[in-house]
Amino acid sequence: MRLKGFVFDLDGVITDTARFHYQAWAKIAEDELGIRITPAVNEGLKGVSRMDSLEVILKYGHQEHDYTEAQKVQFATAKNDYYGQLIDQISPEDILPGMKAFLNALRHGGYGISLASASKNAPRILTGLGLTDYFNAIVDPATLRHGKPDPEIFARGAELLGLAPGEVVGLEDAVAGVQSIKAAGEFAVGIGDRQLLAQADLVFPSTADVSLAAIETAFAEAQG
Ligand code: BG6
Ligand code: MG
Repeated sequence: MRLKGFVFDLDGVITDTARFHYQAWAKIAEDELGIRITPAVNEGLKGVSRMDSLEVILKYGHQEHDYTEAQKVQFATAKNDYYGQLIDQISPEDILPGMKAFLNALRHGGYGISLASASKNAPRILTGLGLTDYFNAIVDPATLRHGKPDPEIFARGAELLGLAPGEVVGLEDAVAGVQSIKAAGEFAVGIGDRQLLAQADLVFPSTADVSLAAIETAFAEAQG
């Protein structure tokens, strides 16, 4: 099959919002729940949906049985309100190194481009970054039944481009994301630690290293 499209994760691939998620969850956890989260806890929230992130934090604080659904929704809403204030600061300067050039190369190459982020704030973040026009489609995570590592989100990312899984490359920085790409039957490009992302077909240590030529070559080789 020929390579025709790219399905992107957002956080950690196009921009670094993890620090804002951390700041917002740390505030809500401490103010509302009396739980002090650590950077290690935050690591476990990457790629995890808003409500599931709250569950992780409650479990960490041994409070997983202490609240009603309505109270949990209130905590998650408070987190998102504060997070919204933080991401309002996002500007084109927050695009991770190399990613603007990579998106331009994809556009010039005539590739379809879609977004497969678990974040309901993704359209707002793309606007802040000034990148909305690069994307032919954005998966709406509210329409999904399962989060990463389930294949649903990356499968949808290809489908929205009108492409078969075998015609696209998925880009991810998280282990659960790479698992989602592979389970969807797509070619996985990992960004980060080679050992951690060993399931990916190709790994670049950082966004600055991502090369379209290298991806095209590896994709063609994988066709056998
Ligand atoms: C993912 C982040 O991209 O989006 C997670 O890595 C976050 O940390 C998830 O919880 C959901 O984001 P949002 O913006 O819908 O709360
Ligand atoms: Mg990510």
